[in-house]
Amino acid sequence: MRWSRQAVIDQYVPATPTPGIRGDAFAPSNIALCKYWGKRDTDLNLPINGSLSVSLGNLGSHTEITPSTTDRDQVLLNGELQALDSRFSQKVVDFVSLFRKGLDQPLRINTHNSIPTAAGLASSASGFAALMLALNDFYTLQLAPPVLSAFARMGSGSAARSIYTGFVEWHKGENPDGMDSHATPLTLAWPDFRIAIVKVHTKPKTVDSRAGMQRTVTSAALYQAWPDQAARDLGILKQAIHTQDFSALGQTAEHNALSMHATMIASQPPLLYWLPESVALMQRVWTARNAGLEVYFTMDAGPNIKLLFLGESTEDVRATFPELAASDVIAPFDPAMTAPSQAAFDQAKPGT
Ligand code: DP6
Repeated sequence: MRWSRQAVIDQYVPATPTPGIRGDAFAPSNIALCKYWGKRDTDLNLPINGSLSVSLGNLGSHTEITPSTTDRDQVLLNGELQALDSRFSQKVVDFVSLFRKGLDQPLRINTHNSIPTAAGLASSASGFAALMLALNDFYTLQLAPPVLSAFARMGSGSAARSIYTGFVEWHKGENPDGMDSHATPLTLAWPDFRIAIVKVHTKPKTVDSRAGMQRTVTSAALYQAWPDQAARDLGILKQAIHTQDFSALGQTAEHNALSMHATMIASQPPLLYWLPESVALMQRVWTARNAGLEVYFTMDAGPNIKLLFLGESTEDVRATFPELAASDVIAPFDPAMTAPSQAAFDQAKPGT
């Protein structure tokens, strides 16, 4: 049997959910160290490979749901009312409707992103995770975190990982209804771990991840090597996190990202998210590393570069990348930076 998103959700959510007065949640953005690239089910967003990410502390999405002040849904992004026929509003309303079910109450869904929307900085991950947590709050669904993770995945695959903080693994799962395809946290902190985002370009990309990965799966012969490599990389990364072996982590994450991009480039028509500035930054990383600085990079479906390093290298990394603003360096395990996301997790209210 092939499951629809609605049929899966109907197993856990009552036919007529009870609306509250306000639902509210924060979810952090996340950056994958082992990438999710390719779906085995495009409706449920079931991945071909497992993946592993680190969350970005207090960078992410905050979503508030209240009854609409008009007779129609109202979708706001960063304080601005969005046209209901825009792609953003449609994605939000489609997802909300999966949970609103028999109720015809229009809602006001207000999202604030502390990262640029749709620039390869994983705003769909935090966006759908925050939306899922806010729906859980608004309708008092009391869904358990793995269920919230599996449901957030149906909005955007990487959102499965944004339900949790820190290092997070998303299991690819086997079941046709996808309920075993959810994330779990690694419960291992690495206080010295740092990520810095070097922004090359923050405008929305022309080919989104969804279309990009579908093109790769269907047209790149090179993609056949990807699932096995991703499984190997995932194992090495988990081990490196357990033993706090930063060199193994950095090398594997960088290699994993470049391998994913190699499959994109080998697609027809080719998919190249890099800009000349992206390549120049990669070369700057390699030059610095050859000179003894332990810095690595990862990249997603966009031209921006995310640097990976340890706290002790911060000064040298800043000297090598003077374009980094103070707030561009993220310490994912710093309690001061993770407080809001912990609050979001608390709101998950483990239940059924
Ligand atoms: C390159 O989760 O945005 O960032 O499931 O189609 O919404 P959809 O895709 P999305 O893809 C993320 C791809 C990636 C790698 C990753 O985050 O693992």
